[in-house]
Amino acid sequence: MKIIKNPNQLQKICIDLLKKKKTIGLVPTMGALHNGHISLIKKSVSQNDITVVSVYVNPIQFGPNEDYNKYPRPIEQDIKICKDNKVDFLFLPTNEILYGKNFSTYVFNDSLSKIMCGVTRPNHFQGVTTVVSKLFNIVMPDRAYFGLKDYQQYVIIKQMVSDLNFKTKIIGCPIVREKTGLAMSSRNKYLSTNEALNASIISKVLIQAKKEFTAHKPIISIIKDIKNNLSKITDCTVEYIEIREAETLKEAKENTKNIVIAVAVRINKVRLIDNIVCKK
Ligand code: PAF
Repeated sequence: MKIIKNPNQLQKICIDLLKKKKTIGLVPTMGALHNGHISLIKKSVSQNDITVVSVYVNPIQFGPNEDYNKYPRPIEQDIKICKDNKVDFLFLPTNEILYGKNFSTYVFNDSLSKIMCGVTRPNHFQGVTTVVSKLFNIVMPDRAYFGLKDYQQYVIIKQMVSDLNFKTKIIGCPIVREKTGLAMSSRNKYLSTNEALNASIISKVLIQAKKEFTAHKPIISIIKDIKNNLSKITDCTVEYIEIREAETLKEAKENTKNIVIAVAVRINKVRLIDNIVCKK
């Protein structure tokens, strides 16, 4: 595995690979790799000739009072995980090299970025779409892999690819969960053992909601039940409970067949998101 810090160098390598008709898979990450990321890497390795993983804690997707500075950065461990999982190139850019002094061009989705997580994190998705566009321009991947835990991010990136004519196919990969049901996230490291146990109830609440949806319970009652069930979790504050069309993230109606039920909560100070996709 080759570690590359310079985007121009990586771009040149990728151009040469594409000339040789090699397929490239990209797994964009912010590091602190866990089994969720490993599942994306494995999928990329199985579907492409070459796999590129980026590890970059992207400053422009964090709000001023968010956890940019304390975000976990276990880089030696991440390098080992990438090597062990047959990654070909690990891209480790710096802030200075990705966002030069005069950086002033952003990619922004004008509708999907403002709902759900976008309400409390107003610049978050602009930061994500900007950095992902940069990565796509550097690597020019045939496929890029995103975990469905960040469901809104996945839909926004798919929309961006369609709106801006990127050639990359977006592959959404299933949420990987702890044995307790807690969705894997680099931010789970912030939870104490007790908090993690409390947080694991979120997935059970979502499973119950899915049962209610398939049993044709009205959406308003499902939301009420989720609210009630989440309120029983110790130290849990709800940020949002949303039931939306799975493809478009438009608000679901009673006759919508394919939905995503998404929640954002805080367990004490730790913000967690989770979701479940349901069909009827
Ligand atoms: O999902 C993430 O880890 C990040 O939002 C991403 C896609 C790597 C962009 O920084």
